[in-house]
Amino acid sequence: MRIGVFDSGLGGLSVLREIRREMPAASLHYVADSAWVPYGPRGEAFIQRRSLALAGFLVEHGADVVVVACNTATAAAVPLLRQSLGLPIVGMEPAVKPATAASRNGRVGVLATVGTLQSARFAALLDQFSSNIEVLTRACPGLVEQVEAAALDTPRTRALVEQYTAPLLRAGIDTLVLGCTHFVFLRPLIEAVAGPEVTVIDTGAAVARQVRLVAGCLEGAGDRAGGVEFWTSGDAEHLAAPLNALWGERVALNSLPGEYVGQSA
Ligand code: DGL
Repeated sequence: MRIGVFDSGLGGLSVLREIRREMPAASLHYVADSAWVPYGPRGEAFIQRRSLALAGFLVEHGADVVVVACNTATAAAVPLLRQSLGLPIVGMEPAVKPATAASRNGRVGVLATVGTLQSARFAALLDQFSSNIEVLTRACPGLVEQVEAAALDTPRTRALVEQYTAPLLRAGIDTLVLGCTHFVFLRPLIEAVAGPEVTVIDTGAAVARQVRLVAGCLEGAGDRAGGVEFWTSGDAEHLAAPLNALWGERVALNSLPGEYVGQSA
């Protein structure tokens, strides 16, 4: 079984580690679209083109399932990927539904990218649940870049987290959804800033369980040696240090072939 996973950058590693935990014997391929991170402020058409290119690369390399380890790319491109590729696609969305169940006071915060928060898919998600709870959202410009640099607890990262969570905390949320895979790496910092009264939720483990279920239903996906391989559309030399830091071990990083790197928006 080979699982192909992509994100705009390194944030999807937070999903990849859950998939590895859930399916230790699977072969995992990960692509970081570092040449074009962050996706958050980019237009939908651009994210769709990039998602098609990256998923196409993973399929070329034998993926049986493609995981979009990015809320922003899921919102922009999952229906298109499903139409275009003849294999299962697993996407992800901010955990508004689990937050509805977890919240005691009915006030939930969501941290995500501008792209996710402005998407029709997120609007539909809110429509579904906001009759039961009050959802306060906050876009977080600059935070993805801090994670890309593995700057997980620097004064600048802390200042951004404080700035973005302050209005939500003032409004009395008791549950905070990490609606961007990058932010999962900031969980200890976010929990420290939010305090013990606030429950922090993300979807990485749930997505990994979903991947295992989907993969378990596939017939004829041959045996593969386990292990993880990494690619980037950006500068591999530059990315090696933050990748190793976030993944927690030294790994080999490959450059994505030129035809998959694309051109600017
Ligand atoms: N990691 C991504 C997400 O879950 C996108 C971050 C970005 O590139 O803006 O939304």
